[in-house]
Amino acid sequence: MNLLNLSYFKAADFEEIFQLADNFFIAESNSYKQDPILADKKLLNLFFEPSTRTKLSFEVAASNLGMTIFNLDEISSSLTKGESLEDTIEVASNIGIDACVIRHKDSVIHDLADRFPDMVFINAGESSVAHPSQALLDLFTIRQSFDDLSKLSYLVVGDLDHSRVLASFLEGLSIVGAEKISLCSPAELGKRYSDHPNFEEDLNSALVGKDVVMALRIQHERLDSALSISGEEYISKFQLNHRRLLDAIGGDQFILMHPGPVNYGIELHSDVRNQAYCKINNQVRNGVGIRMAILTKALLS
Ligand code: CP
Repeated sequence: MNLLNLSYFKAADFEEIFQLADNFFIAESNSYKQDPILADKKLLNLFFEPSTRTKLSFEVAASNLGMTIFNLDEISSSLTKGESLEDTIEVASNIGIDACVIRHKDSVIHDLADRFPDMVFINAGESSVAHPSQALLDLFTIRQSFDDLSKLSYLVVGDLDHSRVLASFLEGLSIVGAEKISLCSPAELGKRYSDHPNFEEDLNSALVGKDVVMALRIQHERLDSALSISGEEYISKFQLNHRRLLDAIGGDQFILMHPGPVNYGIELHSDVRNQAYCKINNQVRNGVGIRMAILTKALLS
């Protein structure tokens, strides 16, 4: 089974992944256990864009499951000598690789999945289109704080246009039946969602009544030209800080998330990082459990 996007998932499929991750969790150490049920399987990580948490957590997840892990990148592989990605996968298949985890700036994974039906493909970030394993760990993290994801009120703030995390998160929220979703950004970073019924530029009003707030960084590497909004104005209007969150939302029932990497001082003030509502470290930890669950489901079903 491949994980290309969430479009073919139902809420029950999410729950199956979440329960698998729950089963790998050790509460006493707040970590995920070693369970070598995939000791006969080989994983190839193919990351053609930078990554820290996705790449590392797939490696730790695969290691916890007893898999043997291999890494290839554009510079050190024969891709640099002109070999195609298709031929690279064919080589991997003949060498005995069972699954490929791929991050790429283009949507290459779908053609590869069609061309190599006996290989398992897992999407670890596709252009600005999809990041399904991130959405699953985000939903899993929310599920650790709230019982019914469909009833919650969500806000995503930041660079909406370039975010594959947001694209997959919205797909996931739709599958769990969530309807109260708001988006906030400067107009120039929210063109893709300008028709969204709850798109707004006023962060203070957008925050009111929210249960889950997710911040996104500005993806400067994907911008075609410089932003017209200055750094100072962005921070003043769109930065989430402790005071702003408490003044607008109040109480202690909401949670704050960020898929990372975080640019503290820009989209988040560092005064949020040690607050109980801040679940960023939980997201990172849960990346291991959810990716263990994804690998298990992909390779054993
Ligand atoms: N959230 C995420 O994809 O982070 P990395 O780029 O560090 O993998």
